Amino acid sequence: MQAESICVVGVGYVGLIQAVGLASFGLAVKCVDLDAGKIAKLRNGIPPIFEDGLEDALQSVIAAKTISFTTDVAEARDCDLFYVAVGTPTSERTGNARLDYLEAAVSAIADVAPVGAVIAVKSTVPIGTCAALQARLDRDHADKRLAIVSNPEFLREGTALKDFFNPERIVIGSASESARQRVRESYAAFDQRGIPMILSDTSTSETIKYAANAFLATKVTFINEISDLVETVGGDIDDVARGIGLDSRIGPQFLRAGPGYGGSCFPKDTLALATIGRRHGVQQQIVETVIRINDSRRFHILKRIELAMGDKLSGKRVAVLGLAFKANTDDVRDSPAVDIVHALLEEGAEVRAFDPVAKFTVDHRAYQQCESMADACEGASAVLIATEWAQFRSFDFSAVEPLVARRYMFDMRRIVDIDADWASRWDIERIGSSLKR
Ligand code: UGA
Repeated sequence: MQAESICVVGVGYVGLIQAVGLASFGLAVKCVDLDAGKIAKLRNGIPPIFEDGLEDALQSVIAAKTISFTTDVAEARDCDLFYVAVGTPTSERTGNARLDYLEAAVSAIADVAPVGAVIAVKSTVPIGTCAALQARLDRDHADKRLAIVSNPEFLREGTALKDFFNPERIVIGSASESARQRVRESYAAFDQRGIPMILSDTSTSETIKYAANAFLATKVTFINEISDLVETVGGDIDDVARGIGLDSRIGPQFLRAGPGYGGSCFPKDTLALATIGRRHGVQQQIVETVIRINDSRRFHILKRIELAMGDKLSGKRVAVLGLAFKANTDDVRDSPAVDIVHALLEEGAEVRAFDPVAKFTVDHRAYQQCESMADACEGASAVLIATEWAQFRSFDFSAVEPLVARRYMFDMRRIVDIDADWASRWDIERIGSSLKR
C-alpha cells in the first residue's frame, strides 16, 4: 500500500470508475467533485450512474475505507498523484472540446498540491493540451515542479468496471520520466499481469485516444455502408461481418451493423479530431467522411421505414423500443434512437417509446415514454427496435399481436429472433438484409 494517497478530481463516469478501481487495489483514494449532491450520494454508497457491478464495488471500497469523498480539493493536499477526469464537452460555437473545466481543475490542484506532485489527465483532450497545461504550471507554479501526464481512458459504458480491471493497454505520456513512473506505480496490479504499458510523450498519448475512437467509429461506419449495399444487392450482413472478421488483420469486433454510432464519445471525439486536423492544416478526410455518413444514417433509416410502410408516417403510431445509445446503459447522449424519435415526430408520427432503463422526455404532445413494451406497442403501425437490449431478443411478440395496428417490425440492431414462432406472422425488416420492395 502506498504511503501517499491518490486524488481523483471529477467523479463522472471515467473518474468514478478510476477511483473505485484504484481503491479496490487497496490504494487510498480521495474523490473530489464540485457537485455536493453527487458527493453526498456517493458517501452513502449510491453511484450517480447506472453501471453493472458499480454499486457493490463502491460499497465495498467504502466499507474497506480506501475511498473518501469531498467537494474541497484542499482536503487532498497530502496526495502526490491527482487524476483529473472532468468533462470536455464540445463547444457548440467552435466544434472544439471545451477545456475550461479542465483548466480550472488543474489550477485548483496546483494551488494545494505538494511539491513534485503529478497531475494525470484522464479526460479526452485535444492534442497539445497537456503540453500547454505543463507550460502554464511551469510558469505559474515553478517552485512546485508539478508534472502533467496524459493517461487516456479506454473503458466502455455498460462494461466500465470489467474494462477497468481488464485493460488491453495502459497509455502514459509525459515529458517527465519520474511522473510517468509514478502513474505506472498506481497501476502496479496491471504491470504484474504483463498488461502492455505504452510510455511516451503527451502528444502521442493524446493522439492514441483520438485515433482509437476514430478508428472504431470508422469500423462501425464501414460495416454500416456495406450493410446498405447488402440490402440492395442481397445477402446477409452478419455473415459478411463474420467472413471478414475472422481475418485476424481485421478482427471480429465493432462489425455490428446498426443505426450508426452514438454516445458521449465517438461523435464528440471524431468531431474533435476533424477540428484538430483542420486547425493544423492536416485535414482528416477519412474521419470527416465517417462523421458525414454517420450523421445522415438516421435519416436514411427513416426513409427505409417509410418505404416499407408504403405510406407517409404522418398520423401513424410508432413504437420505439430502446432509447439508450446502446444496451446496458441509461445514457441517451447522441443516441440514434433519440434522433429517430425526433425525426418521427417531425414527420407527424405519434411515438410511444420504451426503454428498460433510459429515460428520455421531449416536450411534444405526440410523444410518450411507456412503462412496458406492451404499452408502447398499443395501436402501433410499426415497431422499431433501436437498442440491442437482451430482453428485446427474448421477447415473445405474440403477446402484443392483439394490440398492434399492424404486425410490422423494423429491427435496426438485428437482435430479434426471426426463427421464433411469432416471427412468421410478422412482416420483419432488418438493417443489413435485402429490401423487400
Ligand atoms: C467508446 C470506446 O469503445 C471506448 O474504448 C472509449 O473509452 C469510450 O468510447 C470513450 O472514449 O470514453 P462507448 O461510447 O461506451 O465506448 O461505446 P461503444 O461500445 O464503443 O459503442 C459506441 C457506439 O458504436 C454505440 O452507439 C454502439 O451502438 C455503436 N456500435 C458499436 C455499433 O453500432 N456497432 C458495433 O459493432 C459496435
